[in-house]
Amino acid sequence: MPATCLLHRPVDAAAHEPVLVDEVVRLLAVPVGAAVVVDATVGAGGHAAALLAASGPDVRLVGFDRDPDALALARRRLAAYGDRAVLVHAPYDELADTVAPVVASTGPLLGVLYDLGVSSLQLDRSERGFSFRTDGPLDMRMDPTSGRTAADLVDELDAPALAALLRDYGEERFARRIAAAIVRARPLTTTGALAEVVTAAVPAAARGGVHPATRTFQALRIAVNAELERFGASLPQALEAVAPAAADARGGRIAVLSYHSLEDRIAKRVFAAAAAGCVCPPQLPVCGCGRTAVVRPLTRGAQRPTDAEVARNPRARSAKLRAVEKVAPGPSPRPEER
Ligand SMILES: C[S@@+](CC[C@H](N)C(=O)[O-])C[C@H]1O[C@@H](n2cnc3c(N)ncnc32)[C@H](O)[C@@H]1O
Repeated sequence: MPATCLLHRPVDAAAHEPVLVDEVVRLLAVPVGAAVVVDATVGAGGHAAALLAASGPDVRLVGFDRDPDALALARRRLAAYGDRAVLVHAPYDELADTVAPVVASTGPLLGVLYDLGVSSLQLDRSERGFSFRTDGPLDMRMDPTSGRTAADLVDELDAPALAALLRDYGEERFARRIAAAIVRARPLTTTGALAEVVTAAVPAAARGGVHPATRTFQALRIAVNAELERFGASLPQALEAVAPAAADARGGRIAVLSYHSLEDRIAKRVFAAAAAGCVCPPQLPVCGCGRTAVVRPLTRGAQRPTDAEVARNPRARSAKLRAVEKVAPGPSPRPEER
């Protein structure tokens, strides 16, 4: 079926089932009082709708998404909440500046959710070029209104740079072989053509299990959207922006749902640094930096979905949830300071 056949297919927000939604609501909903909650990746609005439903009438939710199609869906889904839902077409690394005026007019920032990665709606629409399962243009931009496509990247990088990208962002064992095959076969302009080239480049004995193109597609998507850089820039902003706990109120909470180890590693390191406080070298007998813990963990390590949730929603399979609560004002130490 040509890719364009699907362009006007009606898109159903229910096609994306939110992961660990009860746990996210338990952690982030604000049942009473005036406050702001941010959904940094509002997508089809599944988590956002559950958070608004479980929060009091004076709580406003700011939803970010880079994808105008996702925002249109979220806007429809959250329409019943009127101006309690503020939706912005912006990357979440613009969190601090975007949220400040809403906090000033509403109340403290008490929750931030990141549900990272790609949504089922993006994956299922072949014309967005995220999936190796259906043929479409090799695009992969979360924001199709700007930036370079996956086809541009594949066309421009030399073999060593392409291999490094596949290794770093896809943890791909056969990065050099795949990169060499891509360079020989280009220009590659469709997902189907790329998937074929990658599959042929992977040794037959290693083709069991996940589709051989899985890691290549993940790596290109991360690079096209600068996913790790943007998340690494946004999370410290969230830590800074949430309200610290006070005598009569809990602190602002941040929850991160990640789907691969590269994203999870960033959350783990940033949260660990903020929970540890002191940045003195371990050989110093007493603390000289005077920094104390800024957050306390709310999950023990990473929380995983139950088998029942994974059976119902296969996208939850690789999900990891980490959450913290801010217990004291910053500044939080950056992971590299430790
Ligand atoms: C997994 S989906 C979120 C689904 C959502 N929680 C729901 O319940 O429908 C991730 C969303 O984050 C968006 N996204 C990815 N990177 C982003 C960024 N840097 N800034 C803003 N949105 C981003 C994607 O476009 C996608 O719609």
